[in-house]
Amino acid sequence: MINFAHRGASSDYPENTILSLKEGIKSGAKGLEIDVHKSKDNKLVVIHDEDIERTFMGRGLVKDFTLAELKSFKNRKKLFRDNEECRIPTLKEVLDLIKDKDILLNIELKTDIIPYPNIEEDVINLINEYKLEDKIILSSFNHESIKKVKAISKIKTGILYKKPIKDVVQYAKSLGVDAIHPDLILVSEKLIKEAHENNLMVNIYTVNIPFFMRLLIANNVDGAFTDYPELLNEILQENNI
Ligand code: G3P
Ligand code: CA
Repeated sequence: MINFAHRGASSDYPENTILSLKEGIKSGAKGLEIDVHKSKDNKLVVIHDEDIERTFMGRGLVKDFTLAELKSFKNRKKLFRDNEECRIPTLKEVLDLIKDKDILLNIELKTDIIPYPNIEEDVINLINEYKLEDKIILSSFNHESIKKVKAISKIKTGILYKKPIKDVVQYAKSLGVDAIHPDLILVSEKLIKEAHENNLMVNIYTVNIPFFMRLLIANNVDGAFTDYPELLNEILQENNI
């Protein structure tokens, strides 16, 4: 099972920062998960929310700031406020971090609330520029974004969902995606089996409790997004995975 450090090693370090991603890699995770938005000057930036306020010392929407402005905000986590690796990273900086490493990067396109113009094309062009197509999986709660990705590239894709989707396996197949990315509460043994029978990977979020980590391993789940990659790594090692 691929251990995806969700927003990096985000239980211990500020989420979606270079520091958190580096620590995710150090923890033994073979995957990283990040969220991507666009700045006012069309730069691809890595942050979870549309608004910077929860995680940075500022207020306003990502889309209303230039990259230089976004870079000026300090991290809200007190202990990391003066750490330069805890500013808002660009997608480019993250690709630079993983390009020579054995890491699978899940880039979530955060287009479900604000539809950033051409974000799909821009992300794909950058991945192509870095020749990292085989090390990326693109996902989104906005399945229209995934359709756009499918129309212009062969990069692996996954559909995120937090509410039940009727016949989700058939739906995923109709979209031609590689994976389903359900919320943990929507997962059953039957769903995992059915997805696998239909050659779909199952990557589940957000798995922070050891009981569920062990249960998903026992059910041959393909990947789990966790804020505790070190813990999941320990549990995977128990199972010699
Ligand atoms: O990609 C899995 C997970 O990150 C989706 O939810 O809200 O943490 O971005 P969220
Ligand atoms: Ca995410």
